[in-house]
Amino acid sequence: MKYAIETFDLSKRYGDFTAVDALDLKVKDKTIFGFLGPNGAGKTTTIKMLTCLIPPTSGTAHVTGYDVIKNPNEVRQKIGMVPQLVSLYADLTVRENAELCADYYGMPTDLKERRIDELMELVDIKYAEKKLVKQLSGGQKQKVSVVASLVHQPEILFLDEPTIGLDPTTKSVLWDLIDELNQKGHTIILCSHDMYEVDMLCDHVGIINHGKLAAYDTPQGLKDTILEQKNTIESNVGEIVRKMEESDASTHPSFCKLREAVNESEMDKAREMSLIVDNSDNKLIDRLFQIPCVLDIETHRSGRLTFKLANTETAITQVISAIMETGSNINSISTKDPSLEDVFIKVTAKKPKKVEKEGE
Ligand SMILES: Nc1ncnc2c1ncn2[C@@H]1O[C@H](COP(=O)(O)OP(=O)(O)O)[C@@H](O)[C@H]1O
Ligand SMILES: [Mg+2]
Repeated sequence: MKYAIETFDLSKRYGDFTAVDALDLKVKDKTIFGFLGPNGAGKTTTIKMLTCLIPPTSGTAHVTGYDVIKNPNEVRQKIGMVPQLVSLYADLTVRENAELCADYYGMPTDLKERRIDELMELVDIKYAEKKLVKQLSGGQKQKVSVVASLVHQPEILFLDEPTIGLDPTTKSVLWDLIDELNQKGHTIILCSHDMYEVDMLCDHVGIINHGKLAAYDTPQGLKDTILEQKNTIESNVGEIVRKMEESDASTHPSFCKLREAVNESEMDKAREMSLIVDNSDNKLIDRLFQIPCVLDIETHRSGRLTFKLANTETAITQVISAIMETGSNINSISTKDPSLEDVFIKVTAKKPKKVEKEGE
């Protein structure tokens, strides 16, 4: 397996503060990797170390096989970077900015001009090639940044929150571009706060929190973990409670407390389903409440019913059959699975464990 990026115990400290803490991360070649984490988690600091802008305090990293400490020049040839804060020359034109980048990599004039034309057309900014960067909008500047970062055909492209503040159309142009670049064989490292973007584009996701890698998987793998954890741990407790329900213990006050807690956790692992039903009345709602897998129903003025259902395979069918039996029509149906946002909140809500280091 070839890795585009491998970090080994990679750390960055600023005085007493550890911004990146012994990070061991692997990104497979030719994949799109999503780097998530709350503000201040250490994403930009990690990217700056991987792109040789700042040196690690300890540990190291290999980028396309080259060591960022021993071979920074080789690393720089292999990478392109669209930084979090656009760093272009405001008093130069769009084309001049791209040319400056190409010159940094010593590209021959013919190739340079051809590549710049191709890239400007790809991101649709050629019409503004003679404009000064300071006259451009945020989205236009982001496009110039992309052109400048790709002009030397880097193997790995780092994008640090590239779509932040962009309008939906420009965002989608960038998403298509990222996908296209990946299909052409570029590895993409995408830092983002946009869960939809990461879910849709990335092969793997790493969530960093307080400088440490808190989770790493495919987007679907992360979402499945949430469902599985809830299924295994909590259904066992649920089973015990149901057995106790049939015994003498069921009248004991502490049992009632436990039952309440289990009910709450059932609620927490519940899945949501939303239906629009013609002529839903109290009789129908009462009937639906009697189905054991229905944990809660909210009624909305629009006729929409939002269900919290126990996480069982037949829950949805049971509800639909019950409604059909009453002769009511279902006009719309939607279910909500855990999103990457749920995973993000769960993983980053954990407080970091304080590790006592020897000699401190
Ligand atoms: N040059 C610096 N000096 C001191 N602290 C810094 C410096 N750069 C970043 N930090 C701190 O390191 C932490 C991680 O920052 P950063 O990597 O920019 O986070 P992210 O990109 O995940 O939002 C933050 O708490 C930030 O304040
Ligand atoms: Mg950042």
